Amino acid sequence: MSGHGTPVPMTSRACGPLTGIAEVPGDKSISHRSLILGAMCVGETRITGLLEGDDVLDTAKAMRAFGATVTDHGGGEWSVQGVGVGAFAEPAGVIDCGNSGTGVRLIMGAMATTGITATFTGDASLCSRPMGRVTDPLALFGTRAVGRDGGRLPMTLVGAANPVPVRYVVPVPSAQVKSAVLLAGLNAPGQTVVIEKEATRDHTERMLAGFGAEIDVEDTDEGRVITLQGQPELQPQQIAVPRDPSSAAFPVCAALIVPGSDVLVPGIGLNPTRAGLFTTLREMGADLTYENERIEGGEPVADLRARYSPDMKGISVPPARAASMIDEYPVLSVVACFATGVTDMQGVRELRVKESDRIDAMAKGLRAAGIEVAEGDDWWQVTGRGAGNVPGGATVESRLDHRIAMAFMVMGMAAHKPVSVDDGSPITTSFPIFEPLMTRLGAQISRSAA
Ligand code: S3P
Repeated sequence: MSGHGTPVPMTSRACGPLTGIAEVPGDKSISHRSLILGAMCVGETRITGLLEGDDVLDTAKAMRAFGATVTDHGGGEWSVQGVGVGAFAEPAGVIDCGNSGTGVRLIMGAMATTGITATFTGDASLCSRPMGRVTDPLALFGTRAVGRDGGRLPMTLVGAANPVPVRYVVPVPSAQVKSAVLLAGLNAPGQTVVIEKEATRDHTERMLAGFGAEIDVEDTDEGRVITLQGQPELQPQQIAVPRDPSSAAFPVCAALIVPGSDVLVPGIGLNPTRAGLFTTLREMGADLTYENERIEGGEPVADLRARYSPDMKGISVPPARAASMIDEYPVLSVVACFATGVTDMQGVRELRVKESDRIDAMAKGLRAAGIEVAEGDDWWQVTGRGAGNVPGGATVESRLDHRIAMAFMVMGMAAHKPVSVDDGSPITTSFPIFEPLMTRLGAQISRSAA
């Protein structure tokens, strides 16, 4: 877990060209799912390239508490001896998911249709986030939830011992909600149907199929209709976790704004439900190319090459693209400062309920660094100042949010004056090697206030 200890102030200052190879860690979404699905089948699932960030380590701990044997073999190699669908043991203690919305929501789904009770908590950020979006559909299976006011953690879930299958239209674009319902549907008899109006990341669907579940996905006028046959016998898998496009975003964006940079970020998953940022950057005029495009483990993968791009222009990011880059708006807004013209981001209400209210956190920090920002409930606009014209010189609150901290570290690499965050410790939730990796490329990050 992060954010429970002493804050770690960090400062990033203008640096020379960023060059070299940036090997970013494994995908966070796929890492969580590998552990959870591994725990839901009998036998041994082997995982390579697991992200060993705090969020995923908390999920590993949780799977042990539910009865799975989770072993770290070193070097990103892990194994999970699962217990099977519907066979979770009742945990003796409280499940602490730290900072991770994905961890807690997916695990709630996975235990919701077993006859056990579990209590969940997390850090201050996670305890402020809405859980009703998950417990409402889980109630349709017969699960009961008691939490704090506003559906917040800590929260106890009493699983449905005799679950019924569910048909659920997801009211917000959320892969976590979709996935929680699908994982709950695994132990309900008959067919559970989840409908999403906007496509969100589809790792759960792909991985369920890989683990041998009967799952069908159809694009209809109503949206993406996902039909899952309940009570399958999942088969243990060998999983090679691809590198995380959401982590790749940071070295890629840094290279685009730091003069003279040329960075290769190899082996990045380009699943269309995740690659929206890279499309957007290319539309802005970024010198970002895909090299060695290939298919790995059923997912499109490429090596990304990002070079300094002084002529980027602000664009309107289509709302339909939001789900495919939802975690990347903070760092996109930093790139937008170094482009000319306005970057308009619409249809992004979900940013307000992430690890922090990301529109508010970024808008305040960007303004403090000399940037003009306009915002509404579900949109914001950043007026770029062009390459080499960003003042910087701010200290920003990271609000227990790893992506806010990393976005402002990227800004400091190309702004006139250094940029600081009050606490960089949350970075370890998703990108524990961010600092050494960026430093090796040439960044100047120090663990001190400005
Ligand atoms: C995730 C889904 C997204 C994303 C999060 C990871 C997942 O959250 O922001 O970082 O792995 O399913 P929402 O479901 O809240 O959009």
